[in-house]
Amino acid sequence: MLPGDGIGPEVTQCAAEVLRRVRPDVECTVAPVGAAALAAGLPALPPETKALCDRSDAILFGSVGLPQYDGLPLAQRPEYALFLLRRDYELYANLRPVRVFPGLEDASSLRPEIVRGLDLLVVRELTGGIYYGRPKELRTVDGVEEAVDTMIYRAPEIERIARIAFDLARARRKHVTSVDKQNILETSRLWRRVVTEMAAQYPDVRLEHLLVDNAAMQLVARPGDFDVIVTENMFGDILSDEAAILTGSLGTLPSASLGSGGSPGRQFGLYEPIGGTAPDLAGKDVANPTAAILSAAMLLRHSLADDSSAARIERAVDRAYGDGLRTADVARSAAAPVSTRAFTQGVLARL
Ligand code: IPM
Ligand code: MG
Repeated sequence: MLPGDGIGPEVTQCAAEVLRRVRPDVECTVAPVGAAALAAGLPALPPETKALCDRSDAILFGSVGLPQYDGLPLAQRPEYALFLLRRDYELYANLRPVRVFPGLEDASSLRPEIVRGLDLLVVRELTGGIYYGRPKELRTVDGVEEAVDTMIYRAPEIERIARIAFDLARARRKHVTSVDKQNILETSRLWRRVVTEMAAQYPDVRLEHLLVDNAAMQLVARPGDFDVIVTENMFGDILSDEAAILTGSLGTLPSASLGSGGSPGRQFGLYEPIGGTAPDLAGKDVANPTAAILSAAMLLRHSLADDSSAARIERAVDRAYGDGLRTADVARSAAAPVSTRAFTQGVLARL
C-alpha cells in the first residue's frame, strides 16, 4: 500500500479497511512514495518501497504530487514514482471504468438524461508514447533554450493494448472506439492501421475511429454511446479525466494498471484512484473514498482472481449511493454531505 500525498493516505486507509473486511487473509504493508518520501529525504520511489512492491502481488496506490514541487524536473517530482513503477513493471494497460452511480445523475455538470446509464471503459496505453519516448530533455542549442518530448510507438506496443481493448469489449457491449490524431501524427497513422488489422480477428466487435479533438467533443455530446475507448498514453490521460468528470466527481473513478508480470492466477498490477492528490481537501475528512475503495475491488478482481469479493465491494458502494450517502463532491442537491470516514462506514455496513 503506497498512500502517497494529499488525500492519498486517508482514502487508501478507507480502501484498506474495506479490503481487510472482505479478505482478512490479504496482507497489507504500507510504504512511502511521492512527496511523502521526498519530504523524508528519500527519492520519490525509495529502493525499500520498490523492493516491497517486488515481493507483493499488487500495489494499492493513493496519489502523488503536490504544488510545491511544480517547476522541478521530472526526476525530482513526486510523480516520478508513478512514472518509474509503470515503466519498471511494464504496466502498459491502464483500465479506467467510468460509471454513473444510480441516483448520482444530478451530480454531473451535464444534464441527467445525457449521463444516465453511462458505462464506459477507457483503455489507456501507459508505458509508451510521449511520456517515455527519447529524447526527452531541456537543452540549450545555439544559446537558445528548448525542450523536446518524443512521441513514439512500436507496432507491438499498439497490438498488445488493442488486444486488451477488443478482449474487454467482447465481455461488454462489443464496441471499440479507437482515438488518434491520424490527420497529423505518424504515430497515429501506425496506431490506426494496427488497430484496424487487429479488428479482423474480432468480427463480433464493432470498431470506430475518432480523432482526439472530435472524441473530446463527442464525449460530452453523447457519452452514453461509448463502450470501450482505446487510446495512446497522453490522449488517454486527458480523455479519462474528461470522461471521469461526467460522473460528477473525479473522486469516484478507480483504475487498474496491468502488465505481463505476476505468477499464475496472480496478475501483478497497480490500482489507484484517477483523481489525484486534491491537496485542498487533504486531512479534512471530506474527500470521496469511492475511487480508492473501488480500486481495491479491481485489485481483488484482476490480481487476486477474486471476482466475488470485488463484486461484493462494488455492490456495497452502489447501495451506499442508492441509500443517499454523499460526500461533499457529489452532494449537489442532496441533504448534508457525509465525511470520508462516514461514507466508508456506510460501505462497510453494506458489505
Ligand atoms: C494519471 C495522472 C498521471 C499521468 C500523473 C500524476 C503523472 O495524471 O494517472 O492520469 O499523467 O499519467
Ligand atoms: Mg491524469
